[in-house]
Amino acid sequence: MQLTINPIAGQGFGAVVQGIRLNQLQDAQFAEIKSAFLKFAFLVFPGQFLTDQENIEFGERFGKLEFGALPIANQTKHEDGSYSEVISVKTRRMRTNIGNETWHTDSTYWPVSSKCAMLSAVAVPAQGGETELADMRAGYAALDASSQRQVAGLSAYHSTQFSQANDLGDFPEQQEGTIYHGEAYLRPLVKTHPETGIKSLFIGRHAFAIPGLERHESRALLKSLVDFVVSEPSRVYTHKWQVGDTLVWDNRALLHRARPYDYSLPRVMTATRIAGDASELAYYPEDSRAAAGRLALATELAILQQEAKGKVFARSTTT
Ligand code: OGA
Ligand code: MN
Repeated sequence: MQLTINPIAGQGFGAVVQGIRLNQLQDAQFAEIKSAFLKFAFLVFPGQFLTDQENIEFGERFGKLEFGALPIANQTKHEDGSYSEVISVKTRRMRTNIGNETWHTDSTYWPVSSKCAMLSAVAVPAQGGETELADMRAGYAALDASSQRQVAGLSAYHSTQFSQANDLGDFPEQQEGTIYHGEAYLRPLVKTHPETGIKSLFIGRHAFAIPGLERHESRALLKSLVDFVVSEPSRVYTHKWQVGDTLVWDNRALLHRARPYDYSLPRVMTATRIAGDASELAYYPEDSRAAAGRLALATELAILQQEAKGKVFARSTTT
């Protein structure tokens, strides 16, 4: 078998890797994969059919895990590896999965955002349920000089209490230790990749309340930046899943989202998320800087609560 890495045709990013078994990976092969990963920002490995343990072991090659081999699924996995019936779209778990359908980068709502993430397809619907990726490096590079200057000094808070409320009209109970922990983490809009040195726009659905801007200006700017990046087809890749595929993407360079599907049909992904390094740390909740984030989030949620009354959210709403 010969390892081949083929850039995806018509896209400015991404590659398909073949001629390799990820469960029998040699260090020299991983070195090739790692450098392709940094260059292309995501890699597709068709036909791998990795077990949970193999997903974890491949993920650990990239760094310390945030979590390993968790189902991102509309079915519950039993101890014996079998799956339950499809769960209701009204469950907290499905609300979180549906939240993934808006452009985001992973774990920016934690003190340390994620380095990269992997999904392996276990069950996929025949239609819909794709995963899309957007190249934020190319997006940043394509901004005109005055827009680059405008975003250079700006930061935004990140919270998934914000994004669930803003995108779905959901206000899950705030609770320490969960992703709904009441903190919001301030991160620059422009990220310099710690390994490649390439700049990208670091935004997405969890981002809100740019300090120094009015709320409407902040919302408009964040929306216009994402809209601009995804308006160019070469900056967006749609992955149509086949069972057995593994996909790994760089959370420091791309946005991603799931696409809707018929939620009564099984969609089961095995997800592994790799933790960020020092450059992905905003601050910890104990830090004096955290107070401003808590206040920004509480203020924003109060406004969203008011606005949500009588508002009809898109297809993803529970009602
Ligand atoms: C995720 C995610 C997308 C998908 O697991 O973080 O965004 O297509 N998933 O399920
Ligand atoms: Mn995600």
